[in-house]
Amino acid sequence: MSTFELLRKQYSHETSIHENKNVTGTVYTPIAIAKKMVYLLLKNHVENSTCHKTFELNDFETVYIQNYLNELPSNDLMAQKLFDYFSVLKILDLSCGSGALLLAYLEFIDYLFILSKEKSIAKLKRILESHIFGVDVEPKAILSLNETLCAYSEQVGLANLKFNLYCLNSLLDDLPILLASFDLVIGNPPYIGEKNNLSWFKPVKETDFGKSYYEGKMDFFYFFIYKGYDYVKRNGSLCYLSSNYFFTADGAKKLRKFIKENFNMVKFLDFGEERVFPDKKLHACVYVLQKKNHHEPIKYGANLAPEKQFEMCDIYHDDGTMGFIVSDKTRHLLSTISREQLGTLGMYYDINQGIVSGADAQFVYMNSEIHKLPPELHQYLKPFYKNSDIDHYKIKSSYERQILYIDSADVNEALTKWLQPYKEKLSKRREVVNGIREWYMLTWPRSERIFTGEKIVVPQRAMSNRFAFVDFPFYASADVYFITANARSPYSLKILTQILNAELYKLWLSHKGKKKGNLLELYATPLKNLPLPRLSESMCDVLAETHGPDLSIDHLLKKSFNLK
Ligand SMILES: C[S@@+](CC[C@H](N)C(=O)[O-])C[C@H]1O[C@@H](n2cnc3c(N)ncnc32)[C@H](O)[C@@H]1O
Repeated sequence: MSTFELLRKQYSHETSIHENKNVTGTVYTPIAIAKKMVYLLLKNHVENSTCHKTFELNDFETVYIQNYLNELPSNDLMAQKLFDYFSVLKILDLSCGSGALLLAYLEFIDYLFILSKEKSIAKLKRILESHIFGVDVEPKAILSLNETLCAYSEQVGLANLKFNLYCLNSLLDDLPILLASFDLVIGNPPYIGEKNNLSWFKPVKETDFGKSYYEGKMDFFYFFIYKGYDYVKRNGSLCYLSSNYFFTADGAKKLRKFIKENFNMVKFLDFGEERVFPDKKLHACVYVLQKKNHHEPIKYGANLAPEKQFEMCDIYHDDGTMGFIVSDKTRHLLSTISREQLGTLGMYYDINQGIVSGADAQFVYMNSEIHKLPPELHQYLKPFYKNSDIDHYKIKSSYERQILYIDSADVNEALTKWLQPYKEKLSKRREVVNGIREWYMLTWPRSERIFTGEKIVVPQRAMSNRFAFVDFPFYASADVYFITANARSPYSLKILTQILNAELYKLWLSHKGKKKGNLLELYATPLKNLPLPRLSESMCDVLAETHGPDLSIDHLLKKSFNLK
């Protein structure tokens, strides 16, 4: 193995992942994925370049997929043509780490160089010195990439080259590179949320750049999409590897709008449940965004086979989210439901989140522990269910815990005496510090009416649409949502339970709701957006008489939405 290969391996994902585990956002891209990203990025360039080409798109695909990826030689004349074509492109990685992505690009260039007829060392020198750019805030990363590029240059007989590598903060520093000057931008930017990483976000938020693009609940990597946009040429392409949550996340509204207005999403590779980073639970995807041009995006399978071409309007949904709906039948069904609906669930019913105690250890007790509590406290105890107790239509198990439900300042002395040992801890809760609650109260008890009256309960996250009707006292924490009726509600909660558990709603939530991997996210926003059917009186009568699963319900609902 050459020094170049050895260094590349040493600083790769597989080796460095263990060293860098504790550095937030730093997991280098595995080589196999880097090669797929380079393929999608270059393919897009070849497809859309307006420059004269001496080869066809098919030629590029054959060389990359059939020859290069399988480590087979390709025709020397074709290698020459492709080398000449790519040798003039400029590529940038704004968070390059040890260079997994830039080196994957260079490896393909090197493959073409070795096979090409003419072998122009001058062109190769120019690529290394003037066409490959990397920025990273971590000095060790830049040093390692510099070392690897030196080893490569020496291997091909080029010594003492100076590379365009910068140890700078891409979001804060003025980079010594020209805006809008890159044909290709590639990246696997750091994915981190703001909650536990305020020190990453704060300085960026204080800049003009940060002020323009910051949005609550965003991920740090969104900033790199905006920065990438600044550096990529018009018609140039940006290819990133990141989590796919920004397609539907509430904290990515601004980003989706920006992408819609300034880019075309032209390629998308979803890794589904596949673990791209072995020790990270992350739903990853790769996408190619092309700066301002009109194209029809193509969805790819993990084997790089194109699955389907989309119209732009099909991937940007009316509710502001994005998604690829592959089957025409499903697309038709969902758009008909949107059109024919009576309105959304949020328009006609109240949706509330469960209790936040702020200190479960002091407020929640197992049934077997209740005897330890003074009898004067029993009046405050309420049945406290888990979200896993919720099944389709009904609750599947009885409660194992009870909560001291303290929603008012007016309590007996026995309670304050019982909680006295924890007063200091309970007083540190934000709502107590801010004077909203007394120290012995629950942080967010909500309105007790939602726990005592009739309601539909929903687990915040579930494999399928689990909605249970409950007409007895049912208290639960914030990972359970409560749907209650109000004066505007057109159907009884029993009828609504039949509707929401139908297969049609599972389909709707899978495509138009929010998802984390295979799990449906059933919190306030997706629940409020659920479409309600227009039911005739006779349809209501049928539903009122149906208890539990019944195949005819889907048929009836389809009829109500005017679906054939
Ligand atoms: C997920 S790693 C990916 C590295 C490399 N692109 C790859 O694919 O292997 C993210 C990199 O971003 C770098 N980084 C984080 N914040 C940065 C910033 N503000 N400017 C430049 N680099 C940054 C980290 O040091 C880390 O090397």
